Amino acid sequence: MTTNRLDNLFPSLAEIPEQYRFGAPIEQRDYLVDGQLRTWEGPLASVRSPVFLKSEQGEQQVILGSTPLLDAETALVALDAAVRAYANGQGAWPSLRVAERIQHVETFLARMREQRERVVKLLMWEIGKNLKDSQKEFDRTCDYIVDTIEALKELDRRSSRFELEQDTLGQIRRVPLGVTLCMGPYNYPLNETFTTLIPALIMGNTVVFKPAKFGVLLIRPLLEAFRDSFPAGVINVIYGSGRETVSALMASGKIDVFAFIGTHKGASDLKKLHPRPHRLRAALGLDAKNPGIVLPEVDLDNAVSEAVTGALSFNGQRCTALKILFVHEDVVERFLEQFAAKVAALKPGMPWEEGVSLTPLPEPGKVEYLGGLLADALEQGAQVVNAGGGESRGSFFYPALLYPVNPAMRIYQEEQFGPLVPVVPYRDLQAVIDYVLDSDFGQQLSIFGSDSAQVGRLVDAFANQVGRININAQCQRGPDSFPFNGRKNSAEGTLSVHDALRVFSIRTLVATKFQESNKALVSEIIRNRESSFLTTDYIF
Ligand code: G3H
Repeated sequence: MTTNRLDNLFPSLAEIPEQYRFGAPIEQRDYLVDGQLRTWEGPLASVRSPVFLKSEQGEQQVILGSTPLLDAETALVALDAAVRAYANGQGAWPSLRVAERIQHVETFLARMREQRERVVKLLMWEIGKNLKDSQKEFDRTCDYIVDTIEALKELDRRSSRFELEQDTLGQIRRVPLGVTLCMGPYNYPLNETFTTLIPALIMGNTVVFKPAKFGVLLIRPLLEAFRDSFPAGVINVIYGSGRETVSALMASGKIDVFAFIGTHKGASDLKKLHPRPHRLRAALGLDAKNPGIVLPEVDLDNAVSEAVTGALSFNGQRCTALKILFVHEDVVERFLEQFAAKVAALKPGMPWEEGVSLTPLPEPGKVEYLGGLLADALEQGAQVVNAGGGESRGSFFYPALLYPVNPAMRIYQEEQFGPLVPVVPYRDLQAVIDYVLDSDFGQQLSIFGSDSAQVGRLVDAFANQVGRININAQCQRGPDSFPFNGRKNSAEGTLSVHDALRVFSIRTLVATKFQESNKALVSEIIRNRESSFLTTDYIF
């Protein structure tokens, strides 16, 4: 039955509703440097969609267009623009009052909102994210910017007062760190990138931004908004291979902050290139293998439905996805049965189709990689529990529920980042605790259970292992006001609306002895508005 469904998975052009058709391929040659959209005359990288279209020649992968393959030299020109705009902290942008920087970001947000439809369509075509989730990604990003502005106003209000400690009068403000390199992941090419890019900018840093490996064209509609909303050189957008461009930026030693969402290997390779390691700050969101643990006393309906969305929303391509499930032997049979039934109810199709949740995968070679993990598990005794699990067509891989999974299988440790759901049966909870303790990752986990003693024991066992413990709920990043971080190879630093403002800044203290002459001097600076730092201005 599934095979039939996959036979008709990819549409012909005529079957796509008019408003979702892609149209002619986009040849992008522009990139943004020093407040100008420049034209790249060199080689281009082809942008392929995960979507195939039926044609007389069979199913053919859609070519969406191309983007500039900048060379190292051009990337360094962009870096120099950011370095000049920062001007060792003396530039107009890092010196601007907070209220004025906020106005620039508000201007950008208004311009960005105008591009919602184009960006959402590109999200669907470039990474295969369904319509609802693509809209959510756009709207969540706008909300994040609004919340960031509010959080900064609050931070600034608190910094507008002086503090008196042990006869020392001081004012403490957060100031920028310098030139920031921002790189995001392909699964949230807009949202995750902007959760570092916007806080970096609003705190007064200047930025070189390189879009993710997929979800690249969708930044194009925002280039004019960036150009027109910020002073020249404050935001520079470059394209090309990371090896060619980003390596050169890091090796230059001129990057002060490295904001990167990707693999821990990629992050370490790039960090090592920086000649001045103590100058470099990093905000990293990296690999994860979040486990879901199902206890014997459990509301199974809830556990299954959370585990299904936790493991399979956006086809499992979320850093926070549940990537391995430990299920107690007493409930495992029922768990598998219900899980398989829920997977069967998920609709495969194209991202714009109503109610679709399973879509094609953007990474070339991903279907083969998942097939390899599956074959390895089968060879070592696992079975595919759900009907049609592991069948594929072109870039589409139908989710496979694998059971019983054991430590000898690759899927036990490797981050699949796709629709493979390994289930490990257990009797002794200690085996599960040991998995978490021994893991190289430490982002989040989920505990499903109703016995307070068992849940309480596990919370304590894991509190020093991961950044977030979810009880009877899937793992996730949101709400964005909550801290998002990880231990071991999973992250460096903590991001949330509030934390990100701190990650991209440092506190500077201006202090003086509390005596008449100093009080008079400071009062005069404030009264005459002779400093942007020493001020009691209050942002409403
Ligand atoms: O890919 C990792 C994202 O931060 C996950 O965010 O949990 O909201 O899907 P999410």
